[in-house]
Amino acid sequence: MPFDLSKLLEERHGENFELHERYLNPKLTKVITTLGFDRFYQRGEGCYLYDDQGMRYLDLLSGFGVFALGRSHPVVKDALRQALDADLPNMVQMDCALLPGLLAEQLVTRSPQQIERAFFCNSGAEAVEAAIKFARASTKRHRILYHAHAYHGLTMGALALNGSAEFRSGFGPLMPDTTEVPLGDLDALKKELRRGDVAAFIVEPIQGKGVFELDAERWRALEAAVHEAGALFICDEVQTGLGRTGRFYAFERYGLSPDIITVSKALSGGFVPVGAMLSSDKIFRSVYSSMDRAMVHSTTFKGNQLAMVAGLATLSVFDDERIVEHASAMGDVWRTRLEELATRHEFLHEVRGQGQMIGVVFGPPTTPALRRRWRMVEATRSAMFSQTLVVPLFQRYKILTQVAADNMNVIKLLPPLIAAEAEIDLFVNALDELLTDTEQKVGWLVGFGLTMAKGVLRRTPSSKARVPS
Ligand SMILES: Cc1ncc(COP(=O)(O)O)c(C=O)c1O
Repeated sequence: MPFDLSKLLEERHGENFELHERYLNPKLTKVITTLGFDRFYQRGEGCYLYDDQGMRYLDLLSGFGVFALGRSHPVVKDALRQALDADLPNMVQMDCALLPGLLAEQLVTRSPQQIERAFFCNSGAEAVEAAIKFARASTKRHRILYHAHAYHGLTMGALALNGSAEFRSGFGPLMPDTTEVPLGDLDALKKELRRGDVAAFIVEPIQGKGVFELDAERWRALEAAVHEAGALFICDEVQTGLGRTGRFYAFERYGLSPDIITVSKALSGGFVPVGAMLSSDKIFRSVYSSMDRAMVHSTTFKGNQLAMVAGLATLSVFDDERIVEHASAMGDVWRTRLEELATRHEFLHEVRGQGQMIGVVFGPPTTPALRRRWRMVEATRSAMFSQTLVVPLFQRYKILTQVAADNMNVIKLLPPLIAAEAEIDLFVNALDELLTDTEQKVGWLVGFGLTMAKGVLRRTPSSKARVPS
């Protein structure tokens, strides 16, 4: 019998959690069910997800930044259908296909002039792995510097550049010759550079974990120090790139000139994994230095035609729908609306981020009664307060968000870049109501506890599914 996707989805509907528990990662299943985030999503369109009960959810995670154009963008879908119908000669390998050339041309054209070439791969972490290797080959030095709180992926090389102990722990020994620099600490950076063995400093122009920012002057001083020491400056734009922060690249905001750029997430159009490492001809020549070494860094799926089509179609939508300009304008709206909220709610301390990458920072209030409430919540687990908001935001208001990182009272918003004032209204009004509740009703915390308990007990439409133990 030919494969029938609709039939398969219908026949096995409701087995999601049981299958994950049995064959995938049972601890993740437990997290999702405990928080009460277990739903049976059936469709995604634009900024919204729809479940099997017909409920609509505002998606302010966008697949960790993948759905820049929203879900199921018709232009990208159509481009992929065209590619499939054309029976493209995919991954011939001993060949130079047209589409990788065209996507490389697009990316190089949108990058600063020192960026001349692209290496394609399948993920953000793979792009970072390429950056590490190219930086070492071109400088003939070993050491890579990274920032505290940095996140560049979880493969072995990228993990050695991770600034959070919880990710590193248990996997050692990690790649040697990497050193953490406190965020924006110019003196610490210069001290490391003086040793003369630094190949590169890799940075996220706005950090994903916690949405931490530096000002332009600090960024330029850091970059200048790196260049003076003969090292390379790598901007990891896997999350911030392609319009997320209201510029095509976030580093443009700070006037930086990176030697290497990594991109991924949004380039996929939300359909086909793709990553790219971009740099100069000189850096490429240090790796691909002879015909013998023409494949010395490579991966089987590097020129996957579907990924290339997804990338090309995505960039065409960026131009046609003026996605970057829209993200920039919406960034101003987010800031104005959330900063106004901060004037009325003591728990809301700060709004960080740019464009459609926003960190909403919570902290202890000044009013004694509210301060006691804060301490009570935080005594259960550090940075619990933001979790007590993320859960009802989802349960009550059907808005999907996340806590920005472990041990940080920051809610991070990564909406699709097409999100507009209607979506901002939904979030701001929901947060306003929730914060008012936390200020006025002592019972809100009990409500949160009940929600969590219900999350553990609530189960599936499928009688086959088990309650996780
Ligand atoms: C800045 C940055 N670099 C690298 C990565 C890793 O990308 P991937 O998850 O595709 O491996 C991420 C993922 O969130 C990221 O935010």
